[in-house]
Amino acid sequence: MNEVIVGHISEFTDRRGRVFRLGELELALFKLSDGEVKAVENNCPHKNGKLSEGMVCDHHVYCPLHDWKIDLNDGLVQAPDEGCIQTYPVFVDDKGNVVLQLAMQSKVS
Ligand code: FES
Repeated sequence: MNEVIVGHISEFTDRRGRVFRLGELELALFKLSDGEVKAVENNCPHKNGKLSEGMVCDHHVYCPLHDWKIDLNDGLVQAPDEGCIQTYPVFVDDKGNVVLQLAMQSKVS
């Protein structure tokens, strides 16, 4: 497991997406209204909308293109639509750094 610091929690605005790139990987990170941070791939499974530009409500993001609703906890698209996106473990350390955990072979498909 690789750990990568993607920023400090003070740099995150509530319910606004941030893009993080690492090689071919492009992630959308969100700080939820309860302070928790979520990381998901930055592509909607419908037509590749940039989820980082979506609206966040509770633990869901709404795709900016056609409003699909995606759960940031498990990556599941909510009914009546279908699909799933990759989620990534992320935590805030005791210094306030936002730390992304990546599997060694992690790759967006
Ligand atoms: S591209 Fe996301 S809902 Fe269409």
